[in-house]
Amino acid sequence: MKKIAVVTGAAGGMGRAIVDRLIVDGFHVIGFDIDAGGLADMAREDFEGIALDLTNASDITDAFAQIKAHQGGIDALVNNAGTCFMSEFPDIPEAEFEKQMALNFSGAFHCCQAAIKLMAGREGVRKIVNISSNGAYNFDAFDPPHYRASKAALDTLTKDLARRYATDKIAVNSIAPAMTETPLFGVVSEEVLAKAIAQMPHGRAMQPSEIAAWVGFLISPAGDISSGNVIILNQGRDVR
Ligand SMILES: NC(=O)c1ccc[n+]([C@@H]2O[C@H](COP(=O)([O-])OP(=O)(O)OC[C@H]3O[C@@H](n4cnc5c(N)ncnc54)[C@H](O)[C@@H]3O)[C@@H](O)[C@H]2O)c1
Repeated sequence: MKKIAVVTGAAGGMGRAIVDRLIVDGFHVIGFDIDAGGLADMAREDFEGIALDLTNASDITDAFAQIKAHQGGIDALVNNAGTCFMSEFPDIPEAEFEKQMALNFSGAFHCCQAAIKLMAGREGVRKIVNISSNGAYNFDAFDPPHYRASKAALDTLTKDLARRYATDKIAVNSIAPAMTETPLFGVVSEEVLAKAIAQMPHGRAMQPSEIAAWVGFLISPAGDISSGNVIILNQGRDVR
């Protein structure tokens, strides 16, 4: 029987790379995304998509109920879905603030609650990996405050759950990447983007497959002894 992994935001840049990685690593992967067409394009052995809106808690409940009925449980969850709305403080519209928190934090929170119940009784160390952002820690970069706050909240959830479930053998970590080449680059102007990429020590953005390799590592047996960590991936950009 293959282990079961759930990846949110599966049809996005980072999501697709994480799905590829986990399938290569022998998982049966269930991808959540609002982009039903994108999920349909990804159809292959060991992948199935569930189209849903992660800002709607009842969609999340329904999706995990479906997984419970068909697969019985899960072994790994990657909370990867997220976006970066770019309005600037103090003129961030209330609806944008709510949506930023709902997708980047609340959706991941609800997925963790549902997933942990389905991890009960599974073999070995089960894994949650939350995709945070270097933007929560680097205040020189362009990220707006509601984005930073949503990711900082996610990282606090990582630490709480890591502590809470350590003896139950559920390991919870965050990966906090800097500039990674995905469709999300479209939220900033070419000028801002070029400046941010030029600040990367290797002179290039990171690739989704490079981030996915770290997700795969944490989910592999080698990752069993890490929990409660926020792993920043930025080519060493912020070392002072
Ligand atoms: N790309 C970067 O440089 C970078 C840097 C730091 C952190 N991140 C984080 O990486 C994660 C993945 O981002 P990405 O760069 O692949 O972006 P992306 O835009 O390519 O992917 C995001 C995915 O989330 C899905 N999504 C959006 N709203 C949704 C909703 N309401 N319900 C379900 N799915 C929804 C989108 O359809 C898309 O497939 C995000 O959490 C992002 O904050 C990205």
